[in-house]
Amino acid sequence: MKTYNKIQELQNELQAQRNQGKTIGFVPTMGALHQGHISLVHQARAACDIVVVSIFVNPIQFNNPEDLKKYPRTYEADAKLLEEATCDYIFYPTVGEMYPEKVTKKYDFGNLETVMEGAFREGHFNGVGVVVNKLFEIVNADKAFFGKKDFQQLAIIRSLVEIENLSVEIIAGETMRECDGLAMSSRNVRLTEEERTFAPEIFSTLNWVKENMENHSPIELMEVAMKRLSVHFKPEYFQIVDGLSLQMINSWDETNYPVACVAAHLGQVRLIDNIELNR
Ligand code: PAF
Repeated sequence: MKTYNKIQELQNELQAQRNQGKTIGFVPTMGALHQGHISLVHQARAACDIVVVSIFVNPIQFNNPEDLKKYPRTYEADAKLLEEATCDYIFYPTVGEMYPEKVTKKYDFGNLETVMEGAFREGHFNGVGVVVNKLFEIVNADKAFFGKKDFQQLAIIRSLVEIENLSVEIIAGETMRECDGLAMSSRNVRLTEEERTFAPEIFSTLNWVKENMENHSPIELMEVAMKRLSVHFKPEYFQIVDGLSLQMINSWDETNYPVACVAAHLGQVRLIDNIELNR
């Protein structure tokens, strides 16, 4: 495994591999890797000849400077995990390498970006779009792998691929969970011991919603879920949406693909999760 900090050097290496007919799988990350990321690396390993993982804490997707400052940076541990997962190349650029000039690009993701995360984190998805497009340009992968935990991000990236007319295939990986159901996230390490005991209530609430679909409307379930979560969390939203348009639904017959999505603060940590409700 080799680490590259410079765009040109990585590109030269990847071009040499492509010239030999090798296919490239790409897993973009912000580091602080956990088994959720590693499962994507395994998917990439199984599907492609060469696996590239980027580690870049992208400043322009953080709307909260405190969150950016506190975002865990664990390059050594990440590199060890990636070596074990038989990754071929890490791309680990500086902010200056990625953004030599001020970023002015503005994407229009339509209604996908005005709801849920988009409504609470201004500019977040534009920052994600800009960095992912830049990373796609650099790596020029055949397939790129993203986790379903960031359900809205996945929809935004599929939209980005259409807007930019890219040929990369986007592959979704299942959310990896701790034994008690908590979705794996780089932010989990910031939970206190007590908060960690409450954290699985997000997944149990999502499951409770899934189990009660037959007898309740989406609106009723969203209300009760918000109440349940309010005991230990400060929930930002709990929405049942159409899994493609991401717009909230009022009745089950509005979609064949209902998904419940949640964001909630537990102490200083903002957690997100979701569940596909397909009956
Ligand atoms: O999901 C993430 O870790 C980030 O949003 C991504 C896709 C690597 C872009 O910075």
